[in-house]
Amino acid sequence: MRLSILAFICLLTFSCTNKYKEVANNSTEYPIIPKPVKMEMASGKFLVDGNTSISGSAELTNEGTFLANILGAAIGSSLEYSESTNGDIQLVIDNAIANEEGYELDVTYDKIIIKGKNSKGVFYGIQTLRQLLPASSEKGDGSIAELTIPAVSIQDSPRYVYRGMHLDVARHYFPVEFIKQYIDLIAMHKMNTFHWHLTEDQGWRIEIKKYPKLTEIGANRYGTIVGHHPGTANDETPHGGFYTQEEVKDIVAYAATKHVTVIPEIELPGHSGAAIAAYPELSCFPKESTKIYNDMGSKKGKEIIAGGTNKIVQETWGVMDDVYCAGKEETFQFLEDVLAEVIPLFPAVYVHIGGDECPKGNWERCAKCQKRIKDEGLHDEHELQSYFIQRMEKYINSKGKKLIGWDEILEGGLAPNATVMSWRGTKGGIEAAKQRHDVIMTPGHSVYFDHYQSEDKKNEPLAIGGKTTVEDVYNYEPTPEELSFEEQKHILGAQANLWTEYIKTEEYAQFMILPRMTALSEVVWSEKDGKDWSDFYTRLQIMADRFEAMGLNYAKHSIEDKK
Ligand code: ACM
Ligand code: ZN
Repeated sequence: MRLSILAFICLLTFSCTNKYKEVANNSTEYPIIPKPVKMEMASGKFLVDGNTSISGSAELTNEGTFLANILGAAIGSSLEYSESTNGDIQLVIDNAIANEEGYELDVTYDKIIIKGKNSKGVFYGIQTLRQLLPASSEKGDGSIAELTIPAVSIQDSPRYVYRGMHLDVARHYFPVEFIKQYIDLIAMHKMNTFHWHLTEDQGWRIEIKKYPKLTEIGANRYGTIVGHHPGTANDETPHGGFYTQEEVKDIVAYAATKHVTVIPEIELPGHSGAAIAAYPELSCFPKESTKIYNDMGSKKGKEIIAGGTNKIVQETWGVMDDVYCAGKEETFQFLEDVLAEVIPLFPAVYVHIGGDECPKGNWERCAKCQKRIKDEGLHDEHELQSYFIQRMEKYINSKGKKLIGWDEILEGGLAPNATVMSWRGTKGGIEAAKQRHDVIMTPGHSVYFDHYQSEDKKNEPLAIGGKTTVEDVYNYEPTPEELSFEEQKHILGAQANLWTEYIKTEEYAQFMILPRMTALSEVVWSEKDGKDWSDFYTRLQIMADRFEAMGLNYAKHSIEDKK
């Protein structure tokens, strides 16, 4: 019901005419994160009730239904989206909006209009509207007796085109439902990319029909070290799991409804131990057994090696020597076959090939790798790595896709069209941008969410190390000053990474990303000039209430420390 109708009833009962039209709102009612580019608060409130109509064109049905579900769940009514132009809440495509992801939101006491350049902008306008509802609406339990939205006029668009969150599902597997929740959180923060790290030394997590052993063998390990690397023992507990291609399609389709692009990462040439356990011939030395580091292998793993099988999936963390052989043609055939199955599952223009932390020791000892160096006129193993990446890039480009790699792909010469993810600080990103390559900033010091998040490490669960507080994340500036104006255009945005060596549960993963990703969302969306930690911090308290209402395990202490 619109408040004009409510006002009419008020009039009939000789009481508060225009109660919601004139009401003065309080600035704390607008705790939007990321902070919008332009926002004007106004007087009045829009009342949502069981008669509120939500309308727009057919192409906005996904967005309209999303909004109807949020509002309906908050008040315990079933609201619907309908195709028309005269709803109380109207969703509109407006080509006059300049930014591809931009939106405008106007709330008055009797009407709400959300406009976007396209459905993505409308979706972001809805995410903003969601943050104008009381935090308890996130419970979705119908418990809000009188749901009102404060009047406002917002014009908004993001600072960066790439706003990402990474998740390593290889060190620990996470179920499909959790991946969807992760995508929901990305969308709630108006971030637009999910970087899905699918393969590692400790597990291969995506079904490849041509190579069934990748998941029969490569998706399972016999145990995992206990405690921080190098560990105190092995837990002797099998760990495994993988996503079928049907599940991948389902996740990618789900993400599309939330305007999140999913980028798969298939690691090469290093971090390839699980694939090598499944297909030992991919190694330079198929007959050499997998190294058991620090004697922390499981009994079962050791038995299997003693029984004559040379390769097993790794049970400890770190950088492993056994990598794909760069000298064998079979390696490239295998990787092209894998990518031929992976690429059609992901509409994203990017494919991430890893490229980080590839020790060169095996290549130095391997006759086939040395022959490749000689035949290709390469100087050393770094150039061999570059040969490897460039060859994969040609294949990826031939499929109409672009390659992303970690900043090690700069060593030995960057592949011609590669985009670089700068993780070892910002140096690699700066160098790549100077070479006129696109860059995504993801430096360890500011956006590695596997770090501890306060001084009080003893009261945090085991993490990899370091310390990155929510304020550190908030203070991060992705565009380096030393770049020229033209070079700066190559900084597409930033991403936080969640490596999961020590992150075994969904609750723990939530704890590591929340609220740090909330800070990152403002870094990548909002204007640099408007940055203000104490203002953000006030809004963050209300976001924390939302997380509470959603039943999420956010890191309370990381906010409370700052009070
Ligand atoms: C990385 O953290 N090894 C990219
Ligand atoms: Zn080799």
